[in-house]
Amino acid sequence: DKGNHRHFMEKEIYEQGEVVSHTLANYLDFAGGRVKPDTSGIDFAALDRLAISACGTAYYAGLIGKYWFERFARLPVEIDVASEFRYREMPLTGTMAALFITQSGETADTLASLRYCKAQGVRIGSVVNVVESTIARESDAVFPTLAGPEIGVASTKAFTCQLSVLASLAMIAGRARGTLSDADEKAMVQALVEAPRLFNQILNTIQPQIEALSRELSRFKDVLYLGRGTSYPLALEGALKLKEISYIHAEGYAAGELKHGPIALIDETMPVIVIAPHDRLFEKTVSNMQEVAARGGQIILITDAAGAKASTLKTMATIVLPEVSEIVAPILYALPVQLIAYHTAVFMGTDVDQPRNLAKSVTVE
Ligand code: M6R
Repeated sequence: DKGNHRHFMEKEIYEQGEVVSHTLANYLDFAGGRVKPDTSGIDFAALDRLAISACGTAYYAGLIGKYWFERFARLPVEIDVASEFRYREMPLTGTMAALFITQSGETADTLASLRYCKAQGVRIGSVVNVVESTIARESDAVFPTLAGPEIGVASTKAFTCQLSVLASLAMIAGRARGTLSDADEKAMVQALVEAPRLFNQILNTIQPQIEALSRELSRFKDVLYLGRGTSYPLALEGALKLKEISYIHAEGYAAGELKHGPIALIDETMPVIVIAPHDRLFEKTVSNMQEVAARGGQIILITDAAGAKASTLKTMATIVLPEVSEIVAPILYALPVQLIAYHTAVFMGTDVDQPRNLAKSVTVE
């Protein structure tokens, strides 16, 4: 049932405040402002390495997780798309664990990667939405996302719930490894607990602006997404979402890679969507935006009030989100990224919930 919504994708975008809150409550003690004691049986303190493997949007969630595990838990992470992981004959050891991220829990390549690790005695954790799935059943520890059934082929609420679980796990690991201070843990938990309340307010505020912008975007054949730090995987996710449902060619790049190639493409026919909260990397990203502007590229900037103020460049649109802590930013910045793809596809008249050639769950290689 789509309720008042035109598509399941729209319904699922608007459900995110609720399901993210529900998911976080499974891992965080809201009242105490701490992470809950971990009962997964994965001894994060004893690990020297974590290998993450997933496909598509779940892989991009994992990429953001890597930044968090390394920064907050000082735990080195290797991450691959599952179709590469399963064949690359990575040396495995008993002092590592493997983490698989999947909405359906049935993705063929992810399952094959899991079985590869399991056969070599590596401990298996999985971040799964469908808890009755094969991947959940074959894991030693299951970290559920409580997103509820996701019907739209384009993953939205599963992604923000995956990020919520990964943020929580990075804190759990940080605590186990003694690398996360009490003060930082409390500040991060509080920021996460308060975030879901902002979702509907943000969606309602930016919706008219994004709907208007999407009409303009629908005229273009190519779109470039740029981001730095945890905004880089979001750039990849934005490009995937736009390709998937609007069929406009889009690419995501690390902002710092611009001058190593994609800058050659910049002209007035390829808009550049820059995801840049006003964080410690903002100034660097602004200099990449200047390079785009100097070549006649049109910029769509997704930032916060401080970022909008600090950048004096002319933009096609500036989408302003609330100023939030670094751990919350990727979860909130997913919202405009999803809405841009959604409204562009709706305007172009594509089959948003069932895009051509795609399956919700890819159970064959
Ligand atoms: O069920 P899974 O999370 O394992 O699926 C992985 C990908 O197939 C999936 O995220 C795909 O990329 C989505 N259609 C993206 O919107």
